[in-house]
Amino acid sequence: MVPRFTLTERLSHWSFASFFLIAFLTGLLMWLPPTREWLGGDRLRVSHLHGGLGYLMVLTPLLLLGLFDRRHLVAGVREVDRWDADDRRWFWMAVRGGTLRGVAMPPQRRLNAGQKFNVVLVAAIVVGFVVTGSILLFRADVPAWLVSRALWLHGFLAILGIGIFLGHLAHVFLTSHGRHYLHAMVRGELSLETATSRHSKWEARPAPEAQEQGGGTSVAGRSSDV
Ligand code: HEM
Ligand code: HEM
Repeated sequence: MVPRFTLTERLSHWSFASFFLIAFLTGLLMWLPPTREWLGGDRLRVSHLHGGLGYLMVLTPLLLLGLFDRRHLVAGVREVDRWDADDRRWFWMAVRGGTLRGVAMPPQRRLNAGQKFNVVLVAAIVVGFVVTGSILLFRADVPAWLVSRALWLHGFLAILGIGIFLGHLAHVFLTSHGRHYLHAMVRGELSLETATSRHSKWEARPAPEAQEQGGGTSVAGRSSDV
């Protein structure tokens, strides 16, 4: 096994995912005409609760990582920002269906280009939610034309976000390696088999036990990427 995610990274992912899903459900209550009618006078309260959950979705992981794992927060941002030639080739091959057809893909580091793209996409959507959601929350002080555009964009982002989430779930539950990634997101460690076959350029950090014994686990160079 190779250490992949720290406890703080995992808690951040699961808190973000939970708030995202609860925000979606409360948003849906306000959106669908039958449930909107059923909410009646409570709609304003639900909208404030929903907005609060939205801010918590963003703040909780940032606080967790900022307070307890700043090193990985900074390293993670750099990692997602850095795309080398193999990442670019991997990405365009994946867009053309290479991963689905089982084509040999260029070697990857800890996160493959698809995972990096997922982080960027989710981060961009989150910024959109915060901006449009804040306009909706403080609509009394904002021109009506901006509120109506924000409402439209907010709903569009919700559909886009759920689409990305469903694709994310399909990757985790419908692929043979998805359960290995899930194990890593729950327990922190990725199977050596998946690490070597799908992330052969990843210089894995030494396992803590190995570190104590003076040894180390390096994924890079163990085998070629498949
Ligand atoms: C900081 C984050 C967020 C804030 C401040 C926020 C705020 C709001 C507010 C104030 C409304 C009520 C609009 C109204 O009263 O008409 C709303 C509606 C809604 N929100 Fe959010 N929200 C956030 C994040 C999210 C997220 C993450 C999702 C989905 C995953 C979401 C989905 C929705 C939906 C579906 C609606 C109903 C749209 C409609 O009525 O057309 N929101 N949001
Ligand atoms: C039940 C729900 C979910 C499950 C089972 C799940 C599972 C996972 C797993 C296994 C990984 C690790 C993949 C790796 O090793 O790189 C991961 C990463 C990630 N998840 Fe989730 N996730 C869920 C919900 C969400 C939601 C709601 C979002 C945001 C909308 C999200 C965004 C991300 C992002 C940005 C990453 C890092 C990039 C990546 O690995 O694709 N996840 N998730």
